[in-house]
Amino acid sequence: MRKLIAGNWKMNGLKADGVALAKELVRRAAAGSPAPDLLLCPPATLLTLVADVVAGSNIRLGGQDCHTRQRGAHTGDISAAMLRDAGCSHVILGHSERRTDHHESDALIRAKVKAAREAGLVAILCVGETAQERDAGRCLDIVSRQIAGSLPEGLSAAELVIAYEPIWAIGTGRTPTPAEIAAVHAHLRVALEGRVAGAASVRLLYGGSVKPNNAWELLRIANVDGALVGGASLDAADFWAIAEAAA
Ligand code: 13P
Repeated sequence: MRKLIAGNWKMNGLKADGVALAKELVRRAAAGSPAPDLLLCPPATLLTLVADVVAGSNIRLGGQDCHTRQRGAHTGDISAAMLRDAGCSHVILGHSERRTDHHESDALIRAKVKAAREAGLVAILCVGETAQERDAGRCLDIVSRQIAGSLPEGLSAAELVIAYEPIWAIGTGRTPTPAEIAAVHAHLRVALEGRVAGAASVRLLYGGSVKPNNAWELLRIANVDGALVGGASLDAADFWAIAEAAA
């Protein structure tokens, strides 16, 4: 499967740095070394600016969240239709930071995945356990429940990406062992069967402290079809090194 390397900029970037970062990535992509599929997920304020920079390149654009409705009286929210209109092909949903900061439930995330699909966006659904849940041996159970609770019926593989992001690995410099990641990804693959048409070709990303120095090893694990990169996606050289490790 062709790998996908996605950069989640989170709440980082003002106009000048976001545009400079995107321009540098477009320059590197145009220089032609074999790259995987690349996706940038800047904050909403930068979407249209970054869309202009990446237009005509093979770099695609994603949002970091959307509302369950496409329009209406929802102050401060952004709809999937708006993301699409701004040039997005993807949207990250159910990130652990949204589950925590905004108390998002599986049921809410499921409605958001439906909204993304309605608007023609690929949903990148994030799942992952806390450190306590892993220590208690509940990791597989937690991700199964997140998948069961947040995936609507009737999705096909082209409409969905799953990102396994252990919460304790995000921004900490710690990662699970390759064997631990392989076990979760194999479990996710099975969990998708019967829920998603073409489950074998849903891309399963790993996220959590992916850096240039561990990307090669992480991206070679069975059923790891790419990476969702946080901190290292804010530096063009680091993000590009990760992309090259995937190629
Ligand atoms: P870091 O790469 O900074 O650990 O963040 C991972 C993440 O949350 C991507 O969505």
